[in-house]
Amino acid sequence: MTTPGGTYRIGDKSVKRLGFGAMQLAGRNVFGPPKDRNAAIAILREAVAMGTNHIDTSDYYGPHVTNQLISEALYPYPNDLVIVTKVGAGRGQAGSVHPAMSRYDLTRAVHDNLRNLRLDVLEVVNMRSMISDATPAEGSIEEPVTVLAELQRQGLIRHIGLSNVTPAQVAEGRRICDVVCVQNLFNLFDRTDDALVDQMALDGIAYVAYWPLGGASPLASMELSSLARQVGSTAAQLALAWLLHRSPNILAIPGTSSLTHLRENFATATLELSPDLIRRLDRMNRAGLLQSDH
Ligand SMILES: NC(=O)c1ccc[n+]([C@@H]2O[C@H](COP(=O)([O-])OP(=O)(O)OC[C@H]3O[C@@H](n4cnc5c(N)ncnc54)[C@H](OP(=O)(O)O)[C@@H]3O)[C@@H](O)[C@H]2O)c1
Repeated sequence: MTTPGGTYRIGDKSVKRLGFGAMQLAGRNVFGPPKDRNAAIAILREAVAMGTNHIDTSDYYGPHVTNQLISEALYPYPNDLVIVTKVGAGRGQAGSVHPAMSRYDLTRAVHDNLRNLRLDVLEVVNMRSMISDATPAEGSIEEPVTVLAELQRQGLIRHIGLSNVTPAQVAEGRRICDVVCVQNLFNLFDRTDDALVDQMALDGIAYVAYWPLGGASPLASMELSSLARQVGSTAAQLALAWLLHRSPNILAIPGTSSLTHLRENFATATLELSPDLIRRLDRMNRAGLLQSDH
C-alpha cells in the first residue's frame, strides 16, 4: 500500500502536493462575484485550516474576484502560504477571455495581482500562453517571458512558471529564466503530457495539474466508480489519489465551491491504493474504460 500526499517544492518553498484552485469561487463562467461571498471565504479559510499552503489563482478570475476573496479571507497570510497566480489572459465586458500577453498587459496584470492580493511581491507568477486558449500550441513565448523576467529583476515577482505550454516552450522559457513550475491540463483520463511530467520530474520542476477532476467534464465512468467503491472512496477522490501517485513532482489544485467537496478532496491525501489498483487505473483510457494490457 502506498499513500499519496506529502510535499514538493516550488522554487525555494515546500508546498503540500494537494493545493486549492480558487477559480470555482468566482461567479458563473469565472465571471463576476460568487453567489455567496461568505461561503467562498469560508472555503478558503477551511482549505488553509485543513493544512494546504498552496493556492492557485489569477487576477483574471472574476476578474479580480478570487484575488480579493483570498486577501479578505486570509490576509495577513500565514508565513508558509504560497499563492501562485497567472497572467497572460484578459476578460471582456461580457466575460469573454482573450490573450493579454503584451508588455503593457503583463505589467498591468502583475500590478493588479499585487494590489488585489495585498502583496509587495508575488511568490510565483505563471505565464499562461494564450497562443491557443484550449490547449498548448507551438509558437514563441520569448517576448512575454522576457517581460516577466524583467519584472522579476525589479523585485515584483520571486519565481516564474509557465502554463498551457508545449515541451518546446518550456525549453524556450528555461533559456530566458529559471522556471519553477509548469501548469498544464493533466488528469486520469488525459495524459497527453505524460512525457513532460517525467521530464519535469527529472529536472526537479513541479508539474501542477489543472483540471485534476476534469474541469467542466467531471471524470466519470462505470469502471472508475466501481474501483472507487472498492477503496471506499468517490470517483473524484480516486482520480485525485491516482494523480498524486503518478509522479512525486505532480501537484494537484482541485477547485470547488463546496465545503463538502473540499473536505473530500483533502481526504485523498491519506487514501491508500494497492499496486494492483494503481495498475488498473494506469490502464484507463480517455473515456475512463479499462484497456486490456495484452
Ligand atoms: N492554467 C490554466 O490554464 C488553468 C485552467 C483551468 C483551471 N486552472 C486552475 O486549476 C484549478 C482546478 O481547475 P477547475 O476548478 O477548473 O477543475 P477541477 O478541479 O478539475 O474540477 C472542478 C469541478 O469539480 C467539482 N468538484 C470538486 N471537488 C469535487 C468532489 N470531491 N466531488 C465531485 N465534484 C467535485 C467542482 O464542483 P463543486 O464546486 O460543486 O465542487 C467543479 O465543478 C482552478 O481552480 C484553477 O486554479 C488553471
